[in-house]
Amino acid sequence: MADSRTRLEIFQNKIAGEVGAAMSVSLAVLGERLGLYRTLASAGPSTSAELADRAGVNERNLREWLAAQAASGYVDYDDASGRFWLNDEQRAVLADEDGPVFMAGGFELIAAMFLDEPKVAAAFLSGRGLGWHERCDCLFRGTERFFRPGRTANLLKVWLPALDGVEAKLKVGARVADVGCGHGAAIIMMAQAFPNSRFVGFDYHGPSVVQARAAAQAAGVDDRVTFQQAAAKDFGDGPEFDLITMFDALHDMGDPVGAARHLRSRLAAGGTCMLVEPNAADGLAENLKNPFSRMMYAASTMICTPVSMSQEGAMALGAAAGPKRLTDVALQAGFTRVRRVAEESPSLVLELQG
Ligand SMILES: C[S@@+](CC[C@H](N)C(=O)[O-])C[C@H]1O[C@@H](n2cnc3c(N)ncnc32)[C@H](O)[C@@H]1O
Repeated sequence: MADSRTRLEIFQNKIAGEVGAAMSVSLAVLGERLGLYRTLASAGPSTSAELADRAGVNERNLREWLAAQAASGYVDYDDASGRFWLNDEQRAVLADEDGPVFMAGGFELIAAMFLDEPKVAAAFLSGRGLGWHERCDCLFRGTERFFRPGRTANLLKVWLPALDGVEAKLKVGARVADVGCGHGAAIIMMAQAFPNSRFVGFDYHGPSVVQARAAAQAAGVDDRVTFQQAAAKDFGDGPEFDLITMFDALHDMGDPVGAARHLRSRLAAGGTCMLVEPNAADGLAENLKNPFSRMMYAASTMICTPVSMSQEGAMALGAAAGPKRLTDVALQAGFTRVRRVAEESPSLVLELQG
């Protein structure tokens, strides 16, 4: 009896922590919307009144928000001075949008999971899936902001150099396509680094393509990056590209084999495809040992799997497809060489050739 009460208390405490964390997401989204983390980062230690003044918000509302942030451990607090601040780690993760460890974009992604939950529930009942184009806008923005820091940390420094001969081609001048490009963050990064190369981003989602064009213009690389609305299975014809990339998009596709086959048909002689996917293992039991699997399966349930199920093929690989299933997809599509590169990276990166 005592044992089961203890187990109950432990579980209740766990759920209390989870409920607190889940409630905090709405405060974090609000804080981001009002620029509160950034303002606190630039202000340094501040009372609620000082910060309210700087941020242009009501002090009483802000005081309660700050208390909740301190309770979450998202900001530090000194009782003697009544001041709140972001320490180095909190600043890097919550306020440094262009840095390699920024994670606050993830809160917007979580908001999308809540906002679209009734549609996902309906998809559970109908089995017809829920397309990317049927989701709320904060999913598109949240996805870009959640993934961008990982690209910033790895794309130019780790992933491209790990591919056989690709970096050299990019320096001289190559043709590059990014399929399922979303808001274009990754391809814009490559365009900035390799001015002699030419880049095309493809995505079936029209509003993302419009946003990607605007981002390329803002970054001053629209002379070398263009974007087209097209699905992965039919973006033009014929061998043309030296490098085709796909960042966290293949598992969203209803027919990943068909998509990979089309990618292969669009590679120029000696071309390479780089597939970036969540770093899952082969199978649930192994994934359960990875603390990130919780995030991976949650996003896969609420976003990726319904997206794939809404498309022709409905293969529904899921975000945690793992290297074996992804390799099978590539081999079925006709690639003859599949190599796992950048082993230490937080993403699973496969080089497909042949
Ligand atoms: C998880 S998002 C990744 C976006 C981007 N690559 C990134 O890393 O930020 C998946 C993207 O794949 C696109 N997508 C899904 N199915 C597609 C298909 N069949 N053809 C082309 N794009 C597709 C979606 O519109 C979405 O922009």
